[in-house]
Amino acid sequence: MTHSHSWWQTGVIYQIYPRSFLDSNGDGIGDLPGITSKLDYLRWLGVDALWLSPIYPSPMADFGYDITDYTNVHPLFGTLKDLDTFLHEAHQRDLKVILDFVPNHTSDEHPWFQQSRESRTNDKRGWYIWRDPADDGGPPNNWQSRFGGSAWTFDQPSGQYYLHLYDVKQPDLNWRNPQVRQAMYTNMRFWLERGVDGFRVDALEVLLKDEQFRDNPLNPAWKPGDPPRRRLIEHYIVDQPGMHDIMQEMRALTETYDQRVLIGELALPVERLMSYYGEQLDEIHLPFNFQFVHLPTWEAHAIRQTVEGYEAALPEGAWPNWVLGNHDMSRIATRVGREQARLTQMLLLTLRGTPICYYGEELGMQNITLAHEEMQDPLAREHPEYSRDPVRSPMQWDGSAHAGFSPAGMKPWLPVATDYQISNVAAEQQDPRSILMLTRALLAVRRSSDALTLGSYQSVEQESATCFVYQRQYVHQCCLVALNFSAQDQVVTLPSQRQGRILLSTHLDREGLIPLSAMHLRGNEGILLEVEA
Ligand code: GLC
Repeated sequence: MTHSHSWWQTGVIYQIYPRSFLDSNGDGIGDLPGITSKLDYLRWLGVDALWLSPIYPSPMADFGYDITDYTNVHPLFGTLKDLDTFLHEAHQRDLKVILDFVPNHTSDEHPWFQQSRESRTNDKRGWYIWRDPADDGGPPNNWQSRFGGSAWTFDQPSGQYYLHLYDVKQPDLNWRNPQVRQAMYTNMRFWLERGVDGFRVDALEVLLKDEQFRDNPLNPAWKPGDPPRRRLIEHYIVDQPGMHDIMQEMRALTETYDQRVLIGELALPVERLMSYYGEQLDEIHLPFNFQFVHLPTWEAHAIRQTVEGYEAALPEGAWPNWVLGNHDMSRIATRVGREQARLTQMLLLTLRGTPICYYGEELGMQNITLAHEEMQDPLAREHPEYSRDPVRSPMQWDGSAHAGFSPAGMKPWLPVATDYQISNVAAEQQDPRSILMLTRALLAVRRSSDALTLGSYQSVEQESATCFVYQRQYVHQCCLVALNFSAQDQVVTLPSQRQGRILLSTHLDREGLIPLSAMHLRGNEGILLEVEA
């Protein structure tokens, strides 16, 4: 394998939602020692880096995305020492560690905000976004919180409103204030010094807001039933001028350490997303690519178009990445069904660029069903249909009580999926044809193949409308991937006299040579072939 690429380009990233991975101390909530105890599993699986959703002290109004101390660990998850142990043990196993960094807002219980709200003249007043009421005494403008309702909350004692684009307990920091920037960069350095390999940076697209605080325009396409946040077009809060300077600052800071990565959460259309690589590729290493998550139809032609559009839009030298789901979005196995979940693992792990996997995808984990009163997500308060709890259920380790997530007798913070007795790590490790074994095999083939880790991407024309076929090539190594997104058998015909050697079928039941002129695929089957370049 060539060494001209970085680990975050050749590797596969695995997202852990710490509350839900493994509860080592029986309080119903996952923790750092729990994650450390599963590092051998992650190594066995074959991923390269672990991204942990926030582990910092927090009142948990938004499950850790509301931080009171950026340089410590929440006691629920353990101690700073547990974090160091985790980091050390991960590095021992050649696993990189990426922490979640939340720059847009703190908790309202963060000492900065506590000071900021003390008085209009407090030193920290300008660290957050305070505005006078409108002439009628109401909020300063029409901006909406992404969690519903006005983005402004009135603070009686000081007679001003503060801005929160998320929960009322998540006041937005003022990134136009150089002191805020410096303080946040100090927080980043704290972890980089400790050996953390990078950050997934939260909610970046809204970091700066319109300096004139103009009203957002109404969205003419909005209709009742659509998410409330779509009612207005977030014109004056998203992707504002000045963002790229901040991105360059963050990147420059990161570059003073060796081999660290910045992955940016930027909910933007592809063209605007691409600008966050930076004109000189000097901004975010990997702006998250959520194309697959938002695809309205999961069909071969739509998937192909998405891949081609994204590949074409990438700036020269920019490295792609692919995501099927995360802690905010419906699980892929629920969106596409059990059968196609296998196919999507092959897709994710054979496209060009860094795959980012969400915990449990390797098992085919599904969304859970919850009653409204069982929901914990702040987003569910007014709109249970938008609850993210269903995708955050405990990892399914084995067939024992609570799927082995919490010690027997303890109730996990969210219910375990009802299918846990068949769908769990222990059972799937025993079943040579499980989706877990498929994922592991795909990760192993990917790791050993320059064509898959480094090679170019090219779509391959063929007749079957339900199949998506593409080629990955690196010098003389070439792989062909043929995915059948229908439940019916299909024959893929390429104008070639040659044969290909099957490296993997999603059904895990065949290998050997097949003619490229007649590749038979069963319903929902994908095959990965080695072919002559
Ligand atoms: C991001 C996170 C989400 C969180 C929000 C506010 O979108 O992924 O979980 O609620 O930011 O921090």
